[in-house]
Amino acid sequence: MTTSKKRILTGIRPTGPLHLGHYAGALENWLRLQGEYECFFLLADYQVSDYADDIEKVRRSVFDVTLDWLAVGLDPERGHFVIESLVPEHAELTIWLSWYLPLGRLQRNPTLKAEMADIEESSDREKGMSVPVAFFTYPVMQVANILLPKAHLVPAGEDQSPHIEMTRELARRFNRTFGEIFPEPEALIGRFPRLVGIDGQAKMSTTRGNTIDLMDDAETVSQKVMRMYTDPTRLRATDPGHVEGNPVFMYHDAFNPDGAEVQDLKDRYIAGKVGDVEVKQKLANALNAFLDPIRERRAHFAAHPEIVREALATGTAHAKKVAEQTMAEVRAAMKLNYLDGFGAN
Ligand code: TRP
Repeated sequence: MTTSKKRILTGIRPTGPLHLGHYAGALENWLRLQGEYECFFLLADYQVSDYADDIEKVRRSVFDVTLDWLAVGLDPERGHFVIESLVPEHAELTIWLSWYLPLGRLQRNPTLKAEMADIEESSDREKGMSVPVAFFTYPVMQVANILLPKAHLVPAGEDQSPHIEMTRELARRFNRTFGEIFPEPEALIGRFPRLVGIDGQAKMSTTRGNTIDLMDDAETVSQKVMRMYTDPTRLRATDPGHVEGNPVFMYHDAFNPDGAEVQDLKDRYIAGKVGDVEVKQKLANALNAFLDPIRERRAHFAAHPEIVREALATGTAHAKKVAEQTMAEVRAAMKLNYLDGFGAN
């Protein structure tokens, strides 16, 4: 692996298997860029404090997400698969960075605000579960994730933009105060930044239970597609339908490579000349054709957990070395090496 390449750092919270939203919003870019950049793919297990009562799920998800990565074709020979908490330098840099981040700046972060509202809403007030302190500060750790390997590019979902903007600000502030250490990273948003869920709501999300997962079998995918929310104004197949904003057609656009078929379905849908069932069956076929090779590779790696383990062990060890180097620079720049030369004058 050449080290002269520019670097990518990106991550996923290990809270469940990956879904089509992850693929269209981010993974696709990771795959495309993994040869061009030196890549760090992070399993951000420090950042799932909303799963504090279900650590077993986090453990399982670390394995599941890694399998999904291998299944879609991320290559541990070309990118580093990293378990965040096994590189505790992430936590250390988070503390130093949080010295330079005004409280109000974090409180105004729109993604964080929305996620905290979701947690408050879904949490069982009787048990007194509410937003953990660690959840409030996770965007600072995300900044540390990106700065530790001095990443230049962060391919991620659209909702990550406020965090990446904060990273740029903190990098500038740190560099101004202590000297040039960190590049100012750019965000790269995927082709379909906010794939809607099968319920037609907001975005596809594990917590909302409206996903089609990369590991779903063909039957499950067909059933989910048949249940999909579609044009609510259309009662009969002969009613003219709406394509714009229709989740079934959004998925066709994202995952059906047969452009002529999609155009034909759209034309007939608008004219009231095709039923939802046909449109959905064709979508299920397209999704299953897309997912089949992913399923095959997933089964292969699931049968070889030693390969999965090795990918995580090697990638994490490499990231740890890189992190130690950066932390040594940070400590020197901040003059935190109190004991060096202590008592010399
Ligand atoms: N917060 C991201 C998410 O919810 C996951 C993540 C953690 C991440 N660390 C990162 C993304 C660093 C990009 C860069 O999807």
